Amino acid sequence: MPGFEGRGGGHHYGMGPVSGPVLPGGDIGNGVAGLPESVRAAFLKSAGDGEEILVAATSDLSPDGRYGEQHVLASKNRLCLAVPNGDQPNLSIWPLKELKKASVDLLVGQASLVATIGKDRVELCRFTNSKQREFHRLAALLEELARNGAMPEEKVDPKDSLPRYCSRCSRLLPEPGGTCPACLKRGQVLVRLLGYLRPHWKRAALLIATMIVSALIETLPPYLTKVLIDDVINRPHVTTIAGWNASHLGWSRVAWLALIVTLFLFSRILLVGVGILGGRQATWLGPRIVADLRGKLYNHLQRLSLNYFDKSRTGALISRVTHDTAHVQGFLVNGVPHVGIDLFLLVFIGMILFSMNWQLTLAILVPLPIVIYVSKNFWRFMRSLFGRAWARSARLVATLNDSLNGIRVVKAFGQEEQEIARFNSRNWDLVSAETRAEMTWATFFPAITFLTMLGQFIIWYVGGSNVIDGTMSLGTLLAFFSYLGMFYRPIQMIARMNEWLTRDLTAAERVFEILDTAPDVKDSPNPIQLNEIRGEIRLENVRFGYDPLRPVLKGISIDIQPGEMIGLVGRSGAGKTTIINMICRFYDPQEGVVRVDGIDLRDVRQEDWHRFIGIVPQEPFLFHGTVKENIAYAKPDATVHEIIRAARAANAHQFIVRFPDGYDTQVGERGTRLSGGERQRISIARAILHDPRILILDEATSNVDTETEQQIQDAIARLVKGRTVFAIAHRLSTLKNANRLLVIEDGQVVEFGTHDELLLKEGVYAKLVNAQRQLSSITAVGG
Ligand SMILES: Nc1ncnc2c1ncn2[C@@H]1O[C@H](COP(=O)(O)OP(=O)(O)OP(=O)(O)O)[C@@H](O)[C@H]1O
Ligand SMILES: [Mg+2]
Repeated sequence: MPGFEGRGGGHHYGMGPVSGPVLPGGDIGNGVAGLPESVRAAFLKSAGDGEEILVAATSDLSPDGRYGEQHVLASKNRLCLAVPNGDQPNLSIWPLKELKKASVDLLVGQASLVATIGKDRVELCRFTNSKQREFHRLAALLEELARNGAMPEEKVDPKDSLPRYCSRCSRLLPEPGGTCPACLKRGQVLVRLLGYLRPHWKRAALLIATMIVSALIETLPPYLTKVLIDDVINRPHVTTIAGWNASHLGWSRVAWLALIVTLFLFSRILLVGVGILGGRQATWLGPRIVADLRGKLYNHLQRLSLNYFDKSRTGALISRVTHDTAHVQGFLVNGVPHVGIDLFLLVFIGMILFSMNWQLTLAILVPLPIVIYVSKNFWRFMRSLFGRAWARSARLVATLNDSLNGIRVVKAFGQEEQEIARFNSRNWDLVSAETRAEMTWATFFPAITFLTMLGQFIIWYVGGSNVIDGTMSLGTLLAFFSYLGMFYRPIQMIARMNEWLTRDLTAAERVFEILDTAPDVKDSPNPIQLNEIRGEIRLENVRFGYDPLRPVLKGISIDIQPGEMIGLVGRSGAGKTTIINMICRFYDPQEGVVRVDGIDLRDVRQEDWHRFIGIVPQEPFLFHGTVKENIAYAKPDATVHEIIRAARAANAHQFIVRFPDGYDTQVGERGTRLSGGERQRISIARAILHDPRILILDEATSNVDTETEQQIQDAIARLVKGRTVFAIAHRLSTLKNANRLLVIEDGQVVEFGTHDELLLKEGVYAKLVNAQRQLSSITAVGG
């Protein structure tokens, strides 16, 4: 075979330069397209006819650790490492069926692909971290190919490789898989947002109507001023009023004055009335729209599957439910109507000004481009400053949250000083960012305001000389002034519009993003009714990984009879909790089926299924509230009697009644006022009260002393009748009541049988039992 050179393990290429650029996430494919023609040709030539390269990956380090290339590829039968060498690459080839395992080992700044071939461990090649994903995938595919002789079907969910860069403009996204503010389809988001006004369209219409009316009323006083000055005050006798012949009425000037002042007064009163009406609509609408949106969002969040929460930061989700929805309120209630009105005013007042004196109007338009240009840039600049201050304040809050939550750890390790120093430095970071923003604001805002007043000087000069010439009346000049103020305000607004549209629509889009995320674990459209179950559970060749590229369960098949108690044993990280997650259908397996009484769990409504399950999770969680409320969590209408019975079974009653407030004792946030063992027992009582057909105890008694555990065991043994129970425990004595024991290692079932059977087998379980016996005898001797 040309170029064949077998290689053993332990090959070191030395440390090359670290960390290459991070590639934007995206489709990696099977990597075959990236192979150089020479490598492809050499491999196919060495292989004979009919071979096809099914999968490949290219490393970015050469064997000597510099930047370079090596290729790992495989066909149906053969695995190959190719090191480029001119036209004749060096190939190392192994039969694929001898590949037992392939994995990525993480080193410092780089990683290597390691394979177990036959009995040897071979380091195939190294690569920088930017290639990690690609090689993880390769390892999974190689194992799959060696096992099945075929490539697995593509099942990778695109959401599992959340892109970090915008696919359109390649900018870094604010958060992986998030919305790119620059590419936001504003129109669509806006239309969708306006949809939220629809249920309240009458109020919304009223709000807009009041705003239009008040804008119109506001244009009245300047006009009245003009009439008052030109037709009444500056005339010895009133002959015309606003161009209308009034001499035949014979009213005195004072009478006209009184009339006009009354009109002034009326317009003001009207304005106040309309303002109150509009304000009441806005305050009515705002909270309702946000409540609507928040409610929808929360509802949806509750329905999302666990893997969504694995991927998201709780803080970010909380800020979406509170902060982003509030932005949307501001936008819909104050933003949209104001912009509408301002645009309307701009046109309307522009027309008034034009009709009053078009030359002067043109003159005041001269500084307009400068005003728009400067305002726009000023706001953009201010936004970046305020944005930085905002980010720092968020960081300060995060620091606070973290250190207060972990206050026990802080104290235990005597890190108070360090935490204080860290807080202070963040605190002052915030001060400096805020000062800078506010100072800039205080300096530039008056300057910008000055710019918008430039028009005044033009009017004073040009208008003033017109009045002196007698080509323009004094009233007109004064009215012009008032209108000018109204004309410039919308212009400022429009200059900022872009910026706040972006900000608010991005907030809205973040909310919509959650609303648009479909739960991964879906209910089937025609679910099978699950009224009663026997409790037989079957896992058929279940394969699952939280990241599909890294399987945690590698083909688990078990059959559990109704009423059996199964003990799950295995090393930490072996996949015990993951098996429970499969049984509870918190996640769907990537391959294989989980059945209850022969029914595929995917055909059953999740809510129905969870009614039959009681689980004591590995980390018991108590909600803020009383002991009683926590026990009755799944059955709020439980009687006191029932609650006490469950507490007794969980061996919790004794310690609960010793509290001064008994069952009404507040447990504190997350139950911090209770001991770990107390929390666990309340959590057991909660599961027992739920009266489940299937009871799951994940390290349920790990925090209680052996005597208490014994009592709980006995209580559970009584309860177990007619239920299927899964119990996970590291302390093997806990599982003494189990009918059968399931030993998990590296995501596979290695042993399954009764305690006695497994002891006889002298396998993994027997070793564990021996180790624990020795340990306890040592402690006994030592203590
Ligand atoms: N939510 C998750 N997201 C990603 N990986 C996870 C998640 N939960 C567990 N894992 C990984 O899956 C593997 C199996 O975890 P699992 O919780 O099933 O172990 P376990 O057998 O219950 O261990 P222990 O005895 O310590 O509880 C571990 O390597 C763990 O890092
Ligand atoms: Mg676990």
